[in-house]
Amino acid sequence: MNASRVDRRVRALPARLRWAALAACVGTFVSVVALAAAERNVGATTAPEAGTATAAARGLERLLLRAYLPPDFDQQVFDDLWTTWEEPARARAEQADMPERRRMAMERYGLTPHPDDPSRSMQYVVDPSSGSWTMSCLACHQGQVDGRVIPGLPNANYALETLTEEVRMVKVRQRKPFGHMDVGSLFLPLGTTNGTTNAVMFGVALMRHRDPDLSIVQRPPRFDLVHHDMDAPPWWHYAKRRSLYADGFAPKGHRILMQFLLVKENGPEKLHGWEDEFRDIERWIESLEAPRWPWPVEATLAEKGRAIFLQHCADCHGTYDPAGPARETYPDRIVDIAEVGTDRVRFDSLTAKERGELNNSWFGHMGADAAIMKDRESPAGYVAPPLDGIWASAPYLHNGSVPTLWHLLHPAQRPAVWKRTATGYDRARVGLEVEEMEKMPTGTGQEKLSSAERRRHFDTSKPGKSAKGHDFPDALDEEEKTAVLEYLKTL
Ligand code: HEC
Ligand code: HEC
Repeated sequence: MNASRVDRRVRALPARLRWAALAACVGTFVSVVALAAAERNVGATTAPEAGTATAAARGLERLLLRAYLPPDFDQQVFDDLWTTWEEPARARAEQADMPERRRMAMERYGLTPHPDDPSRSMQYVVDPSSGSWTMSCLACHQGQVDGRVIPGLPNANYALETLTEEVRMVKVRQRKPFGHMDVGSLFLPLGTTNGTTNAVMFGVALMRHRDPDLSIVQRPPRFDLVHHDMDAPPWWHYAKRRSLYADGFAPKGHRILMQFLLVKENGPEKLHGWEDEFRDIERWIESLEAPRWPWPVEATLAEKGRAIFLQHCADCHGTYDPAGPARETYPDRIVDIAEVGTDRVRFDSLTAKERGELNNSWFGHMGADAAIMKDRESPAGYVAPPLDGIWASAPYLHNGSVPTLWHLLHPAQRPAVWKRTATGYDRARVGLEVEEMEKMPTGTGQEKLSSAERRRHFDTSKPGKSAKGHDFPDALDEEEKTAVLEYLKTL
């Protein structure tokens, strides 16, 4: 791309996004997305398309720059986190200079350095005057593969619980007040394995404190929560899905995207006031496209795999075409829980009443969306998700229990316990680079495993974490599985 074209595109962007576009040469996330939006904007011949591109660019800008929640901690707290680490990490940090310590902290908590300023992370909005850090949607919804930042990829490294625990310790020492996460995590687990979170139960707990039009309920009746960790789905599925979440009960729309913001500081007026901003955020999410496998593919083998996929998988997962979504099909099929056979805790954790209440509230446009979706208050099982860009979104299944596509295709060989490397990618098995174990390690000698280290392991024997089920690939022989694996790389 020549300089004058870049310049023209950059000038077409809102002022605060220009920094991002200018970084295009290094291929950073923001610039790629902002440029794609600007390109559609500049090249658009019809006004509505141009409007969508601008709205999407604005949506991204909001996600990166706007704090919708109260702050979590300040820079001083972040920079002292290393003092709480176990050895030898602590000693290594002590020897390091500040930029290196910050890099180590980002790696420990699964954060991605901001392309504009590596001292802060993309997952938190940092206020330049106060230095406060506020968690954003990107905390769970922005990850990386093999060092590449891919827009809308779930964050498979996020160590939310470890970060919150260590922030609390530093705040006690610095005599600073606790924030909503610091307090919340004393009442409910945030995530027992890095990369997955108890987000669904945060949602249920927050909803319990609101009436249908969002007013705050001071003393909600007692309620039970079935804690379990979920792997967030990639955002580039949004355009294809007709409804949301693993069991497909929630309506699509800008309002449901705000569910995570229901802390008591955000009263109904604030949420109403943010509707337009979330329309823009929805446009951005909708505009995302699945990333392409960046390495070579064996074309003949993949072609063989395509035929097998059509025969064994496409009924549930749809068909795929390099020419784009217009030539594809997606059945949006809910598969009975007994038939799919994957972990059922997520399925059982919500009652029809809870699903109904969400649909009948402001989030479901006071029931208008539920009327369209009809039977989704009591779904029969899990939605068979689209498989676009599936190579990038490991780990697999709704609970993130299966580390690679090879393991997904070999149900009997899925590891009981696995631990991923910090950022390693397994190109042969397509997914996370992992160490496999038969059971959880207990630590060596007197040393018990620290909680930070324990959360680096995925233990499939724990409730909600089973890697069983989805045995459909067992209908294939080994040669067919190899061909399907090759084909999956091309989606
Ligand atoms: C703590 C982690 C976390 C944060 C923060 C978070 N999400 Fe999510 N999100 C999840 C998980 C987990 C799911 C899957 C829930 C399910 O399927 O039951 C999800 C699902 C979604 C989906 C549905 C996708 C689909 O295909 O079904 C959308 C859209 C979404 N989130 C948008 C947002 C937005 C917008 C924000 C910020 C306001 C946000 N999320 C903040 C964890 C998070
Ligand atoms: C009867 C319907 C059905 C058939 C047939 C089927 N699947 Fe699935 N698949 C599902 C459902 C439902 C899920 C979600 C299960 C969960 O998350 O617990 C799923 C999940 C997956 C996932 C993980 C998706 C993710 O984002 O984590 C992959 C990959 C996958 N299937 C590939 C295949 C392949 C390859 C075949 C053919 C060999 C196949 N499936 C056959 C229903 C089906």
